[in-house]
Amino acid sequence: MPTARKRGSVVVLYNSVGDEGYGEFRKIDPSTLGFEPQYDIAVATVAEEYEAIIQGLRKERFHVRGVNLAEDIGNLERLVRRNPPEVVFNLVESFHDSADLEPAVAGFLDLYRIPYTGATPMALAICRRKGLLKNLLLASGVPTPRFHQIWKPKIAVRHGLHYPLIVKPAREDASAGVEERSVVYDRAQLLAQLERVFAEFAPPILVEEFIEGREFHISILGNDPPEMLPPLEYDFSDLPPDQPSVLSYAAKWDPLAEVFHRVAAHCPADISKRLAKRIEEVALRAYRVSGCRDYARLDLRVSADNHIYVLEANPNPDLTEGVSFMHSAEVAGYSFAKTLRRIVEMAQGRAA
Ligand SMILES: Nc1ncnc2c1ncn2[C@@H]1O[C@H](COP(=O)(O)OP(=O)(O)O)[C@@H](O)[C@H]1O
Ligand SMILES: [Mg+2]
Repeated sequence: MPTARKRGSVVVLYNSVGDEGYGEFRKIDPSTLGFEPQYDIAVATVAEEYEAIIQGLRKERFHVRGVNLAEDIGNLERLVRRNPPEVVFNLVESFHDSADLEPAVAGFLDLYRIPYTGATPMALAICRRKGLLKNLLLASGVPTPRFHQIWKPKIAVRHGLHYPLIVKPAREDASAGVEERSVVYDRAQLLAQLERVFAEFAPPILVEEFIEGREFHISILGNDPPEMLPPLEYDFSDLPPDQPSVLSYAAKWDPLAEVFHRVAAHCPADISKRLAKRIEEVALRAYRVSGCRDYARLDLRVSADNHIYVLEANPNPDLTEGVSFMHSAEVAGYSFAKTLRRIVEMAQGRAA
């Protein structure tokens, strides 16, 4: 029997030291939580997510190895010198415990001319600075909430923005520093939140107009031309009425928090064709302006009066099966494995 030809060699590259503790949740009895969990509290660990990507690519007949940098760039040097793969699937998000070095790892691959999946160092760097990205979007006519970027926990009384505002770190992602009290309704709350955020996060900090309304995560796949996958909407209607509708850190990541179980994702979102078209135009422009490549996710809000605002761009977004990007891909009819394959094929196309 002829063996199926391999599609090429891929190294799934990541940088991980230890696990982040999700394994511990398996030991917790859900009946002790004090509320009815709507989702599983045994969220996949980081190691399991990498393994799922490796398995998915093997299923698509690539020759796949997983390589953990484990905070030692020597591991990457040895790889590119001795045994370079055809393509690196780049899942590295930080180095030396710093997200600022994420672009450097992609740059290293560029210097060695190893094709890799996802965004270039430039796009990774721009999107790591939310204020910089927002200024770029505004200069290109892409709507984003009005904001100030500040380096000290001080702000003029007449700052010109309209309450409610949201205070968020400009150089974090994954909702780090976004909590219920990030949304402020008056100056006293604003100053108190600035003190808290400056104590914990490096500046700059964004003070931004809070857009009430609907939140959509728009996944984009491909380059020429990029394709918008079906919009995914976050539904906050189950939150207690005194809580602002934000995808806080707890809502995104803490399966032991009640809010984690009170925010639901719907895909495809229930929106008119006309709104979908307008969202697509804005999202594709944001994708191009931010320099994203292969795959990305734009976080957007649509206000009650139907204005679209881009909150941020996420190059190389999370690829957990069934979540956000992969959720939209599946609704579009692309299986987890098939989507991974398409991403690798884009990098292969740059090999020449
Ligand atoms: N201007 C805003 N208006 C309304 N909600 C916001 C705004 N900025 C952030 N949020 C809420 O906070 C969440 C996280 O903010 P975001 O800018 O996407 O940063 P990140 O996901 O990188 O932490 C968003 O998903 C949204 O729920
Ligand atoms: Mg976001």
